[in-house]
Amino acid sequence: MTATFCEYKPGLEGIPATKSSISFVDGQKGILEYRGIAIEELTKQGSFLETAYLLIWGKLPSEQQLKEFQNDILYHRRIKYRIRDMMKCCPETAHPMDALQTSAAALGLFYARRALDDPEYIRKAVVRILAKIPTMVAAFHQMRRGNDAITPNDNLDYAANFLYMLTEREPHPLEAQIFDVCLTLHAEHTINASTFSAMVTASTLTDPYAVVASAVGTLAGPLHGGANEEVLLMLENIDSLENVEPFVQNLIANKQKIMGFGHRVYKVKDPRARILQGLAEKLFDQTGHDRYYEMAVELERIIEGKLGQKGIYPNVDFYSGLVYRKLGIPSDLFTPIFAIARVAGWLAHWKEQLAVNRIFRPTQIYTGEHNAPYIPMEER
Ligand code: ACO
Repeated sequence: MTATFCEYKPGLEGIPATKSSISFVDGQKGILEYRGIAIEELTKQGSFLETAYLLIWGKLPSEQQLKEFQNDILYHRRIKYRIRDMMKCCPETAHPMDALQTSAAALGLFYARRALDDPEYIRKAVVRILAKIPTMVAAFHQMRRGNDAITPNDNLDYAANFLYMLTEREPHPLEAQIFDVCLTLHAEHTINASTFSAMVTASTLTDPYAVVASAVGTLAGPLHGGANEEVLLMLENIDSLENVEPFVQNLIANKQKIMGFGHRVYKVKDPRARILQGLAEKLFDQTGHDRYYEMAVELERIIEGKLGQKGIYPNVDFYSGLVYRKLGIPSDLFTPIFAIARVAGWLAHWKEQLAVNRIFRPTQIYTGEHNAPYIPMEER
């Protein structure tokens, strides 16, 4: 019999899987820090690329370091024509997360694997992945509509360029700024499912493109990154302010989950949802309110009354979908956008894992039979 040293917890709830200095969450107080800095500060004063640098390299960049990092990323934004050709072979009906997982893995075909203790290889892989993932998401979106991919615009920063490649329109500065904050808010969140997936893959010492591809596959599920898309579908279903209350009653009566609510760690309102709600208000004030926002606020009010005592509050996905919709982004791109941001956290954990690596190999509690007879085919 295999010895077990601790209690089995489904979903590994509460079991530490690593030691990490990348981010910190206090789910009771609603605190999220990246490298010790509160996300409220980073979203007020920093940018997504500065945050990515902080997460991956462990400290805020100097002005010169940030400039070099931004320039490096700008230089590597384009994707090889052969990767574009491969992407053109994806069916236009494919979910963009499947296309992203395929194209992220395809990077490994083109960038030769080198020793994982080579700092230049690590630096280049980080830059390439951060630079090319947004281009691949936008390229697939154009291709599935029968268009050529839009070439990155060297005059636009990371967030603005992505919106440009998606819409072929230079975004308003407020739109770009809000989108950049959304990326910062989604950049990292301790050992969530996709990050754990990235760490397990990293622990085998495979290449970083495989690490990112496995994390993208994990993020795609509706209980993780897929929830913001589900929130929008739910609001479309509800359709009017009057329908909010009966809709919630019905879900609760049938013990169904309300998308965009609840979190394994937060038992108060997710601090990212708080910031996103503020951004949504700013955006809606500027561009005009619509019934989706009104329905969302009403939904939050009703759920707080009914499920607040169980610690069920809005999570990051609840307001992000509303913001993206207002920016003109189709709902099936919400999760790929989450991936664009979370790549920063995955890469930070990849580097941290490499520094202290031991391959993940947990144990199990066997519940099957022993000495079972082999039954010949004709007797089954
Ligand atoms: N709506 C209604 N009830 C809920 C919800 C919800 N969204 N979330 C949790 N609950 C209830 C459960 O029914 C359960 O009640 P019970 O104890 O009476 O049976 C209790 O709260 C605990 O729920 P679990 O599912 O056990 O909590 P867990 O920590 O495993 O799940 C999860 C967390 C997956 C996020 C869950 O809250 C959920 O499915 N939410 C909806 C999907 C979603 O929004 N996901 C995005 C998460 S954030 C992210 O990944 C970026």
